[in-house]
Amino acid sequence: MKVAGSIRVPGDKSLTHRALLLAALAPGTSILHGALTSLDTRSSAGVLRRLGAAVSPLAPGRAVRIRGRPRFRRPAAPLNCGNSGTTTRLLLGLLAAHAFRTTLTGDRSLRRRPMRRVTVPLSLMGARFKEHRQDGLPLTVFGGPLRPLTYEMPVSSAQIKSCLLLAGLAGEVEVAVREPRGRSRDHTERMLRAFGYPVIDDDGWIRFAPEGRLLPFEMRLPGDASSAAFPIGAALLAESGELRIADVGLNPTRTGFLGVLARMGVRPEIHNRREEMGEPLGDLIVRPTGLRATAVEAGEIPGLIDEIPLLAVLAARARGTTVFREVGELRVKESDRLQLIAENLRAVGGRADVVGNDLHVEGVQTPPRGSVRTDGDHRLAMAFAVLGTLPGGRVDIDDLECASVSYPGFAEMLAAIRVDGEP
Ligand code: S3P
Repeated sequence: MKVAGSIRVPGDKSLTHRALLLAALAPGTSILHGALTSLDTRSSAGVLRRLGAAVSPLAPGRAVRIRGRPRFRRPAAPLNCGNSGTTTRLLLGLLAAHAFRTTLTGDRSLRRRPMRRVTVPLSLMGARFKEHRQDGLPLTVFGGPLRPLTYEMPVSSAQIKSCLLLAGLAGEVEVAVREPRGRSRDHTERMLRAFGYPVIDDDGWIRFAPEGRLLPFEMRLPGDASSAAFPIGAALLAESGELRIADVGLNPTRTGFLGVLARMGVRPEIHNRREEMGEPLGDLIVRPTGLRATAVEAGEIPGLIDEIPLLAVLAARARGTTVFREVGELRVKESDRLQLIAENLRAVGGRADVVGNDLHVEGVQTPPRGSVRTDGDHRLAMAFAVLGTLPGGRVDIDDLECASVSYPGFAEMLAAIRVDGEP
């Protein structure tokens, strides 16, 4: 199988959520070009409309216009965040500073994801919560005036960090947070700086001061590096050819997987490096490569947390055994990703084990064949679809449609970059 073509991947999911949330609180009209128009970002747009922002429909190829207001309006009914943990946790930070009551809920997967990781520090700032289910959704937040916060986070997580920085923004108080291990994505910090807010890195502490101003803005969003990981994986597993992915976000807190791939023997070319609103981007060119195993250390995990399913399927084809250390956070993603990666690799003839909080994946050479259970998790579906492109492979995925949570048109893209019959 040959890989060929030049593609763009959908807009960055993390940046789209953040741009929508900030635009909703910037009085006036903001415009987003290249925003992600997937189920997850529609969840953010939907709840922001209920909070009083005017958000134009999220449709592919169309700019999104957001008319924001300085404070949210009290919503008439509970807000449904769908499958989106980012919508829920970041919004909770903003709502904590609004003097009304809001109930948040979501789909089956989101309702069982932990929320105390944000409600505990938000409570220290003065917000109150009512849990309708232990450590999950539905959850009611009673917001109001907030106190400054200095907080050592128990886990490295951009969602927790961003939630607290956004609480500082909306509550106009100082916030200092520290992550225990590694550096999670820093999009919120970069965007806040673009509005003039001081956000400094002080020996591992991220310190925010409420000394900027949200103004309407216009932004062109790069392609999502996490989405690009899937066609990159398909190109690496092909037999010949090359694939170009244009306009991909290259924020160093998102490209940890490229460092791991380099250790596995992959050298993608990067062209056209540039910046947009403080975010680096460029074009990637990837060619098929024989892979070797590596060890992915605990400190690297926050910088590649969403790419582990894809890295694991690549490790399943590499020479040797790859170890991902301290990846317990995968248990609380859209599914129990840790268990399901290992189970599904075994289900298609691979060798993988969960040892404590580590994931061990041994490379095999036999074609992958079998059935995969995704539990509705988009990244599992896409990773195993990539594995299924191997010659002789036959991987049945129970729910490939769930890819539309982050990558509308994923199956079509995967078919389009492969030129069958040409080795
Ligand atoms: C995200 C942060 C990550 C990531 C998620 C998006 C964000 O979650 O898994 O897909 O946009 O902040 P954690 O920060 O909880 O690890």
